[in-house]
Amino acid sequence: MSHPSPIDQQPAWQALDAHAREMRDVHLRELFQDATAAGHERYTLYSRRAAGLTLDLSKQRWSDETHTRLLALAREAGVPEAISRLLAGERVNQSEDRPALHTALRLPADAHLEVEGQNLVPAVHETLDRMEAMVDKFLAGQWRGATGKAISDVVNLGVGGSDLGPLMVTHALADYRPDGVHEINVHFASTMDGSQLADYLTRLNPETTLFVLSSKSFTTIDTLSNARTARDWLLGRLVHNDHEEPHAIDRALVMRQHFIGVSASPGKMAEWGIAPANQLEFWEWVGGRYSLWGAIGLPIALMVGMPNFRALLGGAHAMDRHFQEAPLEDNLPVLLGLAGIWNVNFLDIRAHSILPYDGRLEYFASYLEQLEMESNGKSVTNEGEMTAYSTCPVLWGQLGPNAQHAFYQLLHQGTQSVECDFIAPLRRYDRVENDDTRAHLKAQHRLTLANCFAQSRLLMLGDDAIEDDGPRPSHKRYRGNQPSSTVLLDRLTPHTLGALIALYEHKVFVQATIWDINPFDQWGVELGKQIAGETERILGSREGLETMDDSSRGLIEALWDAEDQASKEAATSSAGQS
Ligand code: F6P
Repeated sequence: MSHPSPIDQQPAWQALDAHAREMRDVHLRELFQDATAAGHERYTLYSRRAAGLTLDLSKQRWSDETHTRLLALAREAGVPEAISRLLAGERVNQSEDRPALHTALRLPADAHLEVEGQNLVPAVHETLDRMEAMVDKFLAGQWRGATGKAISDVVNLGVGGSDLGPLMVTHALADYRPDGVHEINVHFASTMDGSQLADYLTRLNPETTLFVLSSKSFTTIDTLSNARTARDWLLGRLVHNDHEEPHAIDRALVMRQHFIGVSASPGKMAEWGIAPANQLEFWEWVGGRYSLWGAIGLPIALMVGMPNFRALLGGAHAMDRHFQEAPLEDNLPVLLGLAGIWNVNFLDIRAHSILPYDGRLEYFASYLEQLEMESNGKSVTNEGEMTAYSTCPVLWGQLGPNAQHAFYQLLHQGTQSVECDFIAPLRRYDRVENDDTRAHLKAQHRLTLANCFAQSRLLMLGDDAIEDDGPRPSHKRYRGNQPSSTVLLDRLTPHTLGALIALYEHKVFVQATIWDINPFDQWGVELGKQIAGETERILGSREGLETMDDSSRGLIEALWDAEDQASKEAATSSAGQS
C-alpha cells in the first residue's frame, strides 16, 4: 500500500487538481442541464447496482472527465492491487504488522482462505457453530440462571466496536425476530459513568439477566468498570449460603450461568472469571470496529436467530465479491470512495453527513462515525510522513426526517459545504398483517421517501427546485450545489444490511489506499487512556496536583471542593438521624 512518492505529487492527482479549478465554479444544476443537452441522463450514467443496493452518484459535483480522472487516480494509487492484498490476508495493517481479515468472517463454510500456511475458514465456522449452539439454547428457554429461571434479558457490556455494530444492527433488524421462540430482550450499556447500566439494574431481574462482556482487548476500562458493577449486583442479589434453603447458590454457579465473554484474549477472560465454556474467541486480525461479523455479533444473533445472522454475513460476502470482481468503474465501494476523495481533496468539502430515511437505521450514523473517523482520521502516511492533503472529513449524522427539523438549516443556507449520504429502503411494511395499518404505514413510508428525494434535489438545485415565483429576499434563497449520494436498499433485510455495512467498510479502505494511510490502527486514542489513568490516580490520592497545568488544577480542585461538600452534608445528615 505504499506509493513511490506522495500521492498528491502523482500525475493523476495533479491532473485532478487542475481539473478541479475548472469545476469549482460549476453548479450542479448546470451539470444536469449539460447532460440533458447532450442527450444523457446523469442517473443512468452514474448509478450502479450490487447485492440488493442501488448507488446513485449523479448528484455528485462531477462530470465524465472528473469520473475518468478519479478512476485514473484509483489505478495510480494501486487500488486494485490493494483490494487483492486485503482479501488475500496480507499484512495490510502495517503499524501492527497483521492482516485485516473481517472479510474472512463472512466466507462461506466451503471457502478456503490460506493465510500464512493456514486455512482460516474452519476456525471461523467453528466459532459460528459455537455461537449457534448458545443461541439455540437461549431461544429454547434452556439457558437458565442460577435459580433455575430461563434467561430473558441479555445486557451487552462493550464500547466502540464492541458496542456500536451490534447496537446498530439489532435496531435495524428488530423486525426479524424469529417467531415461536423464547424471546430474549437485548440491551446495551457502554458508558463508563454507569448511567445506562444503573438504569438496567433498577429494572431487570437478576435471576433472569445475563451479561455479555464484549471486549477485543479485555482491558478497556469503560467495559471492565461496568462489568465489575454488574458482577457485584448479581453476586449480591443471588449468592446465599443459607442452610435452610434447599440449594445454596455459589459464586461459581452465578458466574457460569450469568456471564459470557467475547474477546481476542482468552487468558484475560479466564482471569476475570468467565467460565471456559462461556468464552467466545476471535482473532487479533479482526479490527474492533470491523468485528460485528463474528462472536461480537452474539447479541444480534440472540435477537434475530442464527439463520438471519448468517444472512447478514451472506450480504456482506456478496459485497466482498463485488468489491473483488467488479471493474473499478462499476465498483460501488470504489465509486463511493472516489466521490469522497473528490469532495475532500479537490472541492474542499470537509464535512459529511449520513442521513438514513428509515427509523430502523437510527444508529447507523453513530456506527459510521467510528468506522470512518477512527479508521481514516489520520495524518501520517504508511511511510511515516505527514500528509500534505486532507484525509477523513468530519462525519456525523442523524435520521434524515428528524435532522430536517434540526440541522438541515445549515445544509441549505449555512456557510459550510457538506457532502450528504441519503439512505433508504424502497419497499417496506409488506409483512404487516392488518390491511388498514399496512396501508397507513406504507403511506408513511412513501411520505418519507418523498422527503428523502426532495431534500437531495433541493440541496442540488437550490431555488431552481421550484417553479420561479418571482424574486425572493436573500434570507429565503437556497444556493443548492451541495453534493450527495443516495443508497437505496431494495428492502432492509439482513442480507442488504450486511451489504450496506460492507459497502462502507470497503469505501473506507479505498480512501485509505489513496491517502496512503493505515485504516486498521487507532494510535490516536491511546494517549488519552494513559493520561486519564494518571488523572484518576491524582483525583483519588490527592497527590501530584503540581504536575498539572493550571486549567486542569482548577477543574480538579473544583471536584475536590464538591466532594468535601458532599462528605460534610452526609456527616451532618447522619448526625441528625442519630
Ligand atoms: O479506544 C478505542 C477502541 O480501542 C476501539 O478501537 C475499540 O472498538 C474500542 O476501543 C473497544 O475496545 P475493546 O473491544 O478492546 O474493549
